[in-house]
Amino acid sequence: MSGIKLDNLSFRYNQNGSADYVLENINAEIKEGEFVCFIGPSGCGKSTLITLIEGLNLPTEGKVLIGDNAVTGPGSDRCVVFQHYSLFKWMTARKNVIFGIKQANKKISAKEADALALDYLTKVGLAENADKYPHQLSGGMQQRVAIARALAMNPDILLMDEPFGAIDTKNRMQLQDLLLQLCESEEKKRTVVFITHDVEEALYLADRVIYMEPKRIKEDITIDFGPKRVRSEVFASDKYHHLRNRLVTLFYENIDAEVVL
Ligand SMILES: Nc1ncnc2c1ncn2[C@@H]1O[C@H](COP(=O)(O)OP(=O)(O)O)[C@@H](O)[C@H]1O
Ligand SMILES: [Mg+2]
Repeated sequence: MSGIKLDNLSFRYNQNGSADYVLENINAEIKEGEFVCFIGPSGCGKSTLITLIEGLNLPTEGKVLIGDNAVTGPGSDRCVVFQHYSLFKWMTARKNVIFGIKQANKKISAKEADALALDYLTKVGLAENADKYPHQLSGGMQQRVAIARALAMNPDILLMDEPFGAIDTKNRMQLQDLLLQLCESEEKKRTVVFITHDVEEALYLADRVIYMEPKRIKEDITIDFGPKRVRSEVFASDKYHHLRNRLVTLFYENIDAEVVL
């Protein structure tokens, strides 16, 4: 069971001090296999929420449940991909993926891990670059390696914190399509929590978009453009324009009225 339940979740850093709450009374359910984007202005608590699902931070109040179990720490059922490439600089792409596989499955043989790594690097179009080091790869290629590593670890839940935030538009679109294609092609229906502040990205990728304002959830919007969606068709649809307007308005409402540009 890899459904996620955020149950009256509140969190503040520095729990002994008088720090303000960063998240307050968050309630949401993410079904097994669902692709949910959290979107919202910078500083509203998106990355903090990911660390709570990951188990790196623990709730001040409330719970994160995966299936029926409260999260008490990190686990191999969850894997995180960050914006800034989390690859080890001193390892080749292949070694990076093998490292992840061995972390997730301590019993796998070296031969099997190597074959699996190459399989996933092939899926992300990097078979020929498998033995290059991160500095020999572009930013987009490095993120492909990070995705290959995350999927090769076979987590139930994929947590992605603005994974394409530093990538140029064209590569970003390719990575979005690659991610959708990989998620759809795999036997296991993975649960994906994807953080972004990009409205178009959220609408294109998600089954559901959850808009956050500082500390709380403001709106929960079902998207569902269906499997094997075609970008040009999605972007040309009335539904897309309607949803885009709604989300842009939410961002706009969030701008402090006293700020004069
Ligand atoms: N390690 C930390 N210690 C103290 N405060 C933090 C820490 N990380 C983030 N914050 C604060 O928590 C709030 C939410 O941050 P964050 O979760 O990074 O937001 P987002 O990812 O939506 O930009 C911000 O006010 C930020 O300054
Ligand atoms: Mg963040």
